[in-house]
Amino acid sequence: MTFRRAAITSVGRFLPEKVLSNKELAKMVDTSDEWILARTGIRERRIVEKGTGTSELAAKAAQEALDRRGISADDVDLIIVGTVTPDMMFPATACLVQDKINASRAWGFDLSAACCGFVYSLSVGSQFIASGMHDRVLVIGADVMSSIVDYRDRATCVIFGDGAGAVLLEASEDDAGLIGFEHKIEGAGGKFLNMPGGGSRHPASNETVQKGMHYVHQEGRQVFKYAVRRTYETTTKLLDRFDMTPDDVTLLIAHQANVRILDATAQRLGLPPEKVIKNIHKFGNTTGATIPLALYDAVEENRLDKGDVVLFSSVGAGFTAGASLFRWGGLRNGDG
Ligand SMILES: CC(C)(COP(=O)(O)OP(=O)(O)OC[C@H]1O[C@@H](n2cnc3c(N)ncnc32)[C@H](O)[C@@H]1OP(=O)(O)O)[C@@H](O)C(=O)NCCC(=O)NCCS
Repeated sequence: MTFRRAAITSVGRFLPEKVLSNKELAKMVDTSDEWILARTGIRERRIVEKGTGTSELAAKAAQEALDRRGISADDVDLIIVGTVTPDMMFPATACLVQDKINASRAWGFDLSAACCGFVYSLSVGSQFIASGMHDRVLVIGADVMSSIVDYRDRATCVIFGDGAGAVLLEASEDDAGLIGFEHKIEGAGGKFLNMPGGGSRHPASNETVQKGMHYVHQEGRQVFKYAVRRTYETTTKLLDRFDMTPDDVTLLIAHQANVRILDATAQRLGLPPEKVIKNIHKFGNTTGATIPLALYDAVEENRLDKGDVVLFSSVGAGFTAGASLFRWGGLRNGDG
């Protein structure tokens, strides 16, 4: 077995057409455009038509990544979907995606780490490339948060949106690719952000529905504090390990949960605004999808050159925290 670096060689995304603006939300709950914008940085978010499963978004994002790369789904070895809103408890969303894109040789699974779903999936997928076991891994972050948000609860419904982003991992041909990662879970924080109903402990019943247990519950302030502290700690620990400092980072592509979390993180790390990708104003918090959607925008805006260092970072329900460092090698298209 030879050790190889995993590089991101293609990107794709899918966003539902329907836009839900702050003004429209203000007609549904006691909130305002001003409050949402000032406290979260969100202007609007995308929402699926009712009855649309996460696999539909995930498959479309994956297909774009394959099309941009110019390869067939038959070339994919492994599909990992980071999501907390699978179409159903089982089968896994990855199986549904495999069927939708006709990835005839692929195996796959879902990875449940809430807002860290994509970052963790990226690290896991990279190991299969590094070990030489696989040549092409699709890593997807996708969520239909509108399916688990209570649109009567102003403290949660203004934050979330729906979307999907995908990347293709392949072996690097030079020193580009995954440099390293730092992940941590802290289960004691689970009480601050969860969806208690529908699992084995509280299976769906009239009672769980009446008590709103199939919706997202969160203590926003606790999550906010944890996010700022842990993002800083995780990213600095990772940079230290490779004798790097924030000065070595070209772009911070962090989970888009709240613009104030992004700003506080950038300030603590001493990163100027031009080194931080922000697209939360357009899409809100799409959970597993925020980071690949932000990467997609970075690519579209030509903000990455070969050799640049990208710092991905996220925190989420669990609590989960994670960061990874990639040296950018550029996207590939056509054979090669
Ligand atoms: C949820 C969040 C936006 C709330 O912002 P905040 O500044 O912490 O606000 P608070 O929860 O302290 O509430 C302040 C006031 O605003 C009110 N409020 C909450 N949501 C509101 C809304 N949508 N519109 C208007 N007022 C609102 C509260 O009721 C409270 O009123 P009170 O002072 O009369 O009690 C913020 O805590 C947050 O983003 N947390 C992280 C959440 C997150 O990232 N979750 C996903 C996991 S990664």
